[in-house]
Amino acid sequence: MKQHLLSINDLSREEIGSVLDTARFDFLDLSKREIKKVPTLRGRTVINLFYEKSTRTSTSFELAGKRLSADVINVKADSSATGKGESLKDTVLTLGAYRPDIIVIRHPHVGAAAFVARYVVAGAHVINAGDGKGEHPTQSLLDIFSLQQEFGEDLAGLRVAIVGDILHSRVARSNIIGFQKMGMEVKLVAPPALLPRGVEALGAEARHGLDALADVDVIYLLRTQSERHERANYLPSLREYISRYQVGLRHLSGGQKVLHPGPINRGVEISAELADSGEHLILQQVEAGLAVRMAVMYRIIVDSAAAAADEAAAGDSRAGARAAEGEEAAGKAKIKNIRAVG
Ligand code: CP
Repeated sequence: MKQHLLSINDLSREEIGSVLDTARFDFLDLSKREIKKVPTLRGRTVINLFYEKSTRTSTSFELAGKRLSADVINVKADSSATGKGESLKDTVLTLGAYRPDIIVIRHPHVGAAAFVARYVVAGAHVINAGDGKGEHPTQSLLDIFSLQQEFGEDLAGLRVAIVGDILHSRVARSNIIGFQKMGMEVKLVAPPALLPRGVEALGAEARHGLDALADVDVIYLLRTQSERHERANYLPSLREYISRYQVGLRHLSGGQKVLHPGPINRGVEISAELADSGEHLILQQVEAGLAVRMAVMYRIIVDSAAAAADEAAAGDSRAGARAAEGEEAAGKAKIKNIRAVG
C-alpha cells in the first residue's frame, strides 16, 4: 500500500487482493475468539476524525484500532474545537503534536482527506473514511470482500447493478472503480437526475428502470442522500421514487444477492420485507468492514515500513557501489601515480 489511502485508485487489483487476503486469513476469525485482540499495533496511535455522522465506519475503525491494540482517539467535530472556529488545517496540525501513526478522516467536503494528507505530520498515514461525494475506498474494499465471501475470490465477469442516488454517492464512485478493477461488469440504475453527467465515461451502462436488474448477479442499493440535495429538487416526489425504484423481494430472481452500504432507509430504496429477509448481505458487509479495516490499518503501516527499508537498502547498496567505484578510481589513480612516479 502507499503512504495514504485516499481513493480506491491508490490500490492496484493485485494490492486489493493482497489486502483482502490479510483481512481473510489474519483478522476475520478474530471476532469469533474469546479474546478478540492482537498486539499488532501496540504502541501505535490512531486518530479517528469524524466531521460527518457515521455508525458503521466510525465504530469499525475504532474497534479495528482497539483490536489491534493501538491507542485510539476519537474526535467528533460536533464536540471538538471545530465548533469554536478552528480550521481543519489547524486541527490536523494540533493533532500532529501527538505523533499519530494513522489519521482516519470523514468529512462532508470532497478532497478533505487529500487536504489532511498535505498537513499531516511526517510519517503518519491518512485513510479516507468518506469525503463528501468524493470517495469511500474502505467501503469498496469491504464490498469486494463480501462479494468474494459469497461468489469466490475471482469476481471477473460478475454482473452488478448499482441502484439509487448515484450522483451524490461516494460509495458508488469508489465501487464503480473498485468493481471494474476486479473485472466485474457494472450497470447504473437511477432516474436521470440522480446520475452524474457524462456517466458513460465511467465505463458503466446507465439505465433508468428496474427491468435492468433481470440479468445481474448482484444488486447494490443506495439510499437517496437528501442531506446532499441542497436546494435542488432532484425527485418529483418520494412516493414516485419509491414506486419506480424501491427494490423488494419481487424484483429478485435466481440467487441474486443484495448489498447496501447502510444506513438503509427501510421502505424507501429497500422494502421492509427485503430488509428482513435473508436475501441480502448487509450484516455480512458490516462484519467484513471490521476485518478489512484492521487489514488496511496494519498493511498501511507495515507496507510503507517495508518500502522505506527497501529504499534504505537500495540507498546503502547505491552508496556501497559509489564507495566501490570511488575505491576503484582511487586505486587506478594510485597505480597511475605510481607509474607516473616510476
Ligand atoms: N457505509 C457507511 O459509510 O455507513 P456510515 O455512514 O454509518 O459510516
